[in-house]
Amino acid sequence: MNVLVVNGPNLRRLGTREPEKYGTTTHDELAVLVTQWGADLGLDVEVRQSDDEADLVHWMHESVDSGTHVILNPAAFTHYSYALRDACALVSSAGLSLVEVHLTNPHARETFRHTSVISGVASGTIAGFGIDSYRLALEAVARRVG
Ligand code: DQA
Repeated sequence: MNVLVVNGPNLRRLGTREPEKYGTTTHDELAVLVTQWGADLGLDVEVRQSDDEADLVHWMHESVDSGTHVILNPAAFTHYSYALRDACALVSSAGLSLVEVHLTNPHARETFRHTSVISGVASGTIAGFGIDSYRLALEAVARRVG
């Protein structure tokens, strides 16, 4: 089973970006871990990152066309991107899992982070467990499709 893990803006900077909030694991290290955790669950995982909203929208379209489940950390787009929300709705309505993940718990942070325009079209949301949020999301996908 193929799973696309997509990380949004500023997540390439993991490791040095506000490590007290996001931890010290780099994006490359996260990609290796996520791929390994996926393989352990029988999932074939590809990890991508972009700061560009258009890339994320196009990758959602690609996942619909290829029948690929998605784990998405929309980063700041979580809070305001209706374009990404609409693209995620396409994934969900194609019968594919779309799990929203966050390293931090946005509800325990600034008020503007309390709103997710993505959650309403996601299969579910996992937030606040650092890089383990991705591991839990992979388990959720594996259980849903297994
Ligand atoms: C984040 C939370 C967002 O509010 C923030 O803009 C991010 C990362 C997280 O993983 O905790 O870039 O999605």
